[in-house]
Amino acid sequence: MNILIETKNLTKLYGEVQALNNFSVKIESGAIGLLGPNGAGKSTLIKALLGLIPASSGTGKVFSRDITIDALTIRQRIGYMPENDCFLPDLNAVSYLSYLGELSGLSPRDSMQRTHEALYYVKIGDERYRNISTYSTGMKQKIKLAQTLIHDPELILLDEPTTGLDPTGRREMLKLIKGIVKNQGKNILFSSHILQDIEQICDKIIVLNRGELVSTGKIKELLYEKHPDLVVRVRGNVGLFLQRLRSSGLKPIKRKNDILIKYAPDITKRVVALAADANVQLRYLDSSKRTLEELFIKLIDQVEK
Ligand SMILES: Nc1ncnc2c1ncn2[C@@H]1O[C@H](COP(=O)(O)OP(=O)(O)OP(=O)(O)O)[C@@H](O)[C@H]1O
Ligand SMILES: [Mg+2]
Repeated sequence: MNILIETKNLTKLYGEVQALNNFSVKIESGAIGLLGPNGAGKSTLIKALLGLIPASSGTGKVFSRDITIDALTIRQRIGYMPENDCFLPDLNAVSYLSYLGELSGLSPRDSMQRTHEALYYVKIGDERYRNISTYSTGMKQKIKLAQTLIHDPELILLDEPTTGLDPTGRREMLKLIKGIVKNQGKNILFSSHILQDIEQICDKIIVLNRGELVSTGKIKELLYEKHPDLVVRVRGNVGLFLQRLRSSGLKPIKRKNDILIKYAPDITKRVVALAADANVQLRYLDSSKRTLEELFIKLIDQVEK
């Protein structure tokens, strides 16, 4: 697998505040979520990778190039959607985007063509000739997304792209980002504090809190523990089944529609045998999948303890 981003003990201090604290991570290509609560250090990490802010200590590489030495070369290969608006005053979307395209080295003609393609992709119609300052938040977010596409970069850094959007705008934005990953095959680093957004788009995740790496890996693997609990649904004498489970040393928890049984060795075999023994019909049996929310809270708790 291709290593896109690698940091070693990357640290950023703002006076007393440790925005990044010995942050070491290796990120492979693909769609990666950067998850953390407010103030976790997401934007700081993104800006440090772009070489927009100098790190206090530690090292970072993007495309195997050093972020302090090769920042310009790195930036040419990256599309960046910043968290805050940073439009040039008094420009319409076409002038703004084609100007950015030219700044990144495209000819005026190519830049204009890419501008219209990007605006078509994000579904900005005739409004593209209106001054950006008159746009709604949703439209501004779309322009910021379009600006990441102009120079056809390999990696796109999206800093909280769904911020400020209503449910429809949010859904639309996620769909556009999904298309960029699935149909255009781009690598993305998608920062958010909204778990569901990340889960919809990314297969890998980096969780950070208070400038520290909390956990990283494939979302699916993080959601399934090594020793998962079991969830079963039965029809018949549930009371008797629970009794049998308990007397055999298992720890069942009766929930509204099912029973959660805490992990124990050979749990599946034992539960199936006990169901037969209690003469209940097993209607459902699966390992318990945590929601990303539960996982997130658990991970953050680990750091705060
Ligand atoms: N220019 C700055 N000067 C001083 N402190 C800063 C500066 N930029 C960020 N910080 C602090 O660094 C920490 C990390 O901030 P950062 O913006 O990276 O977090 P974030 O994860 O992007 O948060 P959010 O979800 O709110 O955007 C915070 O405590 C923040 O207050
Ligand atoms: Mg931020």
